[in-house]
Amino acid sequence: MDTKYWDLQNIQVTENNSAIQQAAEAIQHKHTVAFPTETVYGLGADATSEEAVDKIFKAKGRPSDNPLIVHIGEQKQVEQIVSQIPEKAVKLMDAFWPGPLTIILKSNGACAENVTAGLDSVGVRFPDHPVAIALLKASGKPVAAPSANQSGRPSPTTAEHVLDDLSGKIYGVLDGGPTGVGVESTVVDCTGDLPVILRPGGVTKEEMEQVVGPVLFDVALKNNSEKPKAPGMKYTHYAPNAPLWLVEGSVERIKEVVSLMQQEGKRVGVMVSEENRDQFQDVVVKTCGHGSDLSEVAKHIYDVLRAFNKEDVDIIIGQTYPKEGVGVAVMNRLEKAATKMVK
Ligand code: TXA
Ligand code: MG
Repeated sequence: MDTKYWDLQNIQVTENNSAIQQAAEAIQHKHTVAFPTETVYGLGADATSEEAVDKIFKAKGRPSDNPLIVHIGEQKQVEQIVSQIPEKAVKLMDAFWPGPLTIILKSNGACAENVTAGLDSVGVRFPDHPVAIALLKASGKPVAAPSANQSGRPSPTTAEHVLDDLSGKIYGVLDGGPTGVGVESTVVDCTGDLPVILRPGGVTKEEMEQVVGPVLFDVALKNNSEKPKAPGMKYTHYAPNAPLWLVEGSVERIKEVVSLMQQEGKRVGVMVSEENRDQFQDVVVKTCGHGSDLSEVAKHIYDVLRAFNKEDVDIIIGQTYPKEGVGVAVMNRLEKAATKMVK
């Protein structure tokens, strides 16, 4: 199939835009359409149609036991999908929607069974992006959408990334330019007494605690032997083609590891923050912005991981970041992408 490309960069988008109308019609006809959100690009299909949702799994090569997030274009649409909305979930919605927060609630069965991979809960998200909202409203459907990458690869933050992975496998892509947050939404389970973060993301634990009091992290985030409650968290993810080693230590230690690899005859790529760039010569250096601004790092991390695939390197050596604020999400993604942690 020839994947359609709609360019919506730098224009004010409304539901009446002709590209939005065509994309919405494609969703209604059970096709897959990739679209920008404030976090990463998603690959959307009608969440109420098993046949449409199946096309997402096929295009991505995604394991069928990994449930999809359902996207809505206005807050009250959540009532069409879930059976109950606890008070804490309402508070989180009021505070962070539209925005990078996915809330897991008890499903009412309105979504197709393959969306939830047989679970009795469903993840709901109201994204904060004008193109996403216009598409969701124009289609009139709840839209299931995982990140629009080939399963296992870094999530896409541009339409070009989407086409690199999925061209010919999806109906179309709406290009709304680069996304803003860069890492995916925070996934928070609100089916129990206390909210539990299953995947760290754009909204931090501290931000949520200001609104609802204590919030927990899923134990599997800290302890690898526990089974994660978000099925997707058990898979290898975000990996560039070359192995990625993360060095826990100073820039001097990173330089030592780089020279060791060079002595072994390896072509080395280095992934560090901007202030460390000048410390490295004779290697391919890519930076995600200044280490002091973790949201800048989050914004560029996937683009940099993908960019190494276009370089001739045998190994990538990267630095770590403080696990605070959005740094928790950055380190979660880097640790998943890495093949080795070096002390
Ligand atoms: O920012 C985002 O969340 C992006 C954009 C496109 O919205 N979407 C995204 O979807 O990252 P995906 O499919 O790549 O990741 C969804 C995560 C997976 O780890 C999945 O296992 C988990 O959410 N999840 C979905 N539904 C769940 C449920 N009912 N219970 C537990 N975990 C669930
Ligand atoms: Mg994903």
